[in-house]
Amino acid sequence: MILSKTIRSVRLALQSAARPVVLVPTMGGLHGGHRDLIVLARRRAGAKGTVVVSIFVNPTQFGPKEDFSKYPRTPASDFSLCEAAGADIIFSPSPEGMYFPDRSVFVDESVLSLPLCGKSRPGHFRGVCTVVAKLFHIVQPDEAVFGEKDWQQLAVIRQMVRDLNFPVKIVPHPTVREADGLALSSRNVYLTPEQRAVAPRINKILRECAASGASPSSAAKSARARIDKIPDAKVDYVEAVHPDTLQPAVARPARLVAAVFLGKPRLIDNVSMKSPRRKVPAKR
Ligand code: PAF
Repeated sequence: MILSKTIRSVRLALQSAARPVVLVPTMGGLHGGHRDLIVLARRRAGAKGTVVVSIFVNPTQFGPKEDFSKYPRTPASDFSLCEAAGADIIFSPSPEGMYFPDRSVFVDESVLSLPLCGKSRPGHFRGVCTVVAKLFHIVQPDEAVFGEKDWQQLAVIRQMVRDLNFPVKIVPHPTVREADGLALSSRNVYLTPEQRAVAPRINKILRECAASGASPSSAAKSARARIDKIPDAKVDYVEAVHPDTLQPAVARPARLVAAVFLGKPRLIDNVSMKSPRRKVPAKR
């Protein structure tokens, strides 16, 4: 496995790399969810292709009052996880290496970025799109793998790729969960034992409400009311949205999406609200 810390060295490493090149963009603090993304990337690249994992805590996607400086940075264990999962190249640049101090060009997705996390984290998706566009230019992957836990991010990146004609196939990976249902997240390490014990209730409530047969808006309303009762929980949003447009869902299929502060950490999760099964008439 090659570790590249500069754009120059990763480009050099990629000159002789076999295609397909599959990129897994991350911010480090890697856990089992990232491992599964890298394993999927390995499968997509095949034995001969190249798997690149970028590890970069991207300052431009954090707001001034957010946890940029406290975001977990665990390079040694990140590198072992990448190696064990089958990565060929780690690209781990410094902020100074990635951004010019007088930068003035950004990538701004202007519709899907507005609701949900975009409301409470203004500028977040501009930072995400800008860094992902830069990574795509630097690595020039054939495919890039993103987790479905960040449903809005996935929708925004897909839109950017479509609208700006990036020759990159976006490959989604289902959310990876602990046995009790909690979505894996780098921020879970900040939960106190008490918060960790109640955190899986968020997913349980989302699943139960999604399966209840209620309309999307009623399901979201009752999920919000129930999550609000979890000790230490402060709901940022719980909404039922159209899976692609992220507009409030009027019918199924929809996505029940939530962001919840559990103490300090802000957890996000989402589940599918499938269309009701059509009754097939019994054969005579
Ligand atoms: O999902 C993340 O970890 C980040 O938003 C990403 C896509 C690596 C961009 O910094």
